[in-house]
Amino acid sequence: MNCRKPANHLHWSGAGCLRSGLDRRRIIAIVLAALGSGAAIPRSLRADSAEPAALRKLAADKGLIYGTTISAAQITGDPAFVKLVLRQAGLVVAENEMKWQVMNRGARGDDDYGPADTIANFAFENGVVLRGHNLLWYMRTPSWFFDLENQHEMESAVVEHIRSLAGRYRGKIHSWDVVNEPIEPKDGRPDGLRTGVFLEMMGPDYLDLAYHTARESDPAARLVVNEYDVELDAPEQEARRTALLHLLERMQRSGTPVDAVGIQAHLSCADGPPFSASVLRRFLSEIAGLGLTIQITELDVADEGAPAEQAVRDRLVAETYSRFLDAALDEPAVKMVVTWGLSDRHSWIVRRETNELKWRKDEALSRPLPFDADLQPKPAFEAMAQAFTHAPQRTPG
Ligand code: XIL
Repeated sequence: MNCRKPANHLHWSGAGCLRSGLDRRRIIAIVLAALGSGAAIPRSLRADSAEPAALRKLAADKGLIYGTTISAAQITGDPAFVKLVLRQAGLVVAENEMKWQVMNRGARGDDDYGPADTIANFAFENGVVLRGHNLLWYMRTPSWFFDLENQHEMESAVVEHIRSLAGRYRGKIHSWDVVNEPIEPKDGRPDGLRTGVFLEMMGPDYLDLAYHTARESDPAARLVVNEYDVELDAPEQEARRTALLHLLERMQRSGTPVDAVGIQAHLSCADGPPFSASVLRRFLSEIAGLGLTIQITELDVADEGAPAEQAVRDRLVAETYSRFLDAALDEPAVKMVVTWGLSDRHSWIVRRETNELKWRKDEALSRPLPFDADLQPKPAFEAMAQAFTHAPQRTPG
């Protein structure tokens, strides 16, 4: 495997990972503005005072940011949902619109920023924090990339893409998932890294290249390694946790900038491995021990395998939120909780084509999020509200 450092990359040195005090102040100002009263939210969208406290407020009271995915189509086509998002969420992230393959029209450099801009502008205009998801993901890489001739071409395409996307929102984004899902112990490498086009053509240094380029392109953004299946008590998840910790240590040793770990947390209330609060706590404290912050980035709870009766499913889903969040929020390095959607009206789990895996055998629609398809709060909302209310105070990050 060829692990040379890319010749076309100008700022390989670890010095690139130091951010200035100014950048830090700017990002803190963005966060504080978003944690605040929502002053930028138009009056027509503000909540009635009779409603229960919003998740964003309960989270902010503890130094946490709570957020959700949104899509450009929802912003332009679902005003009732938008109103709920602005009431409940202090942060938004594009569910798909910032993914390379989704933006790309089919040729190198030909990207459509329209839908991504719709989401970014929505966040800026409403004083909501913006998260970036994601700069590189093996699952959403444009097909022309796979036809590039050699390592050098691939590296320059990766650098071009990151400069263009992260550079476009420079100074305005809280954090970027730079590489999404880089770990796959089942691929059999001793370091647990996922094999595939990036690793095979560029070697493990593709990660360093991506994070250095992201830092250069937006020095204020927190740079995140986002990973899934690291939450539960199972040998394959333990292997993924171990590989992730090794990757983080390796990046830190070589001066590669990384600020946070994203824990996706796509959970199930009835299927899959057991949850152990102590296993999760230990893992989170190991990450914190590296000086990194933690973001829960894609929380939702599938109910496949749970009984059909709605009240039973809702209770099981809510209990899963409680168990997970109670343990996760014990760790003060956890600074953010993002649910992968806010209402069951818009969830990838409820769209069969995007989640065949978690489709209920009885064909009943899943109920994975805090609000139902009619935008009414469910027991999962109450579970989240309670978890935020009882969470220890932390410094925002
Ligand atoms: C999902 C979206 O929700 C779907 O709409 C899309 O079809 C596929 O991607 N992990 C991630 C997210 O990091 O980007 C994925 O989002 C869900 C799993």
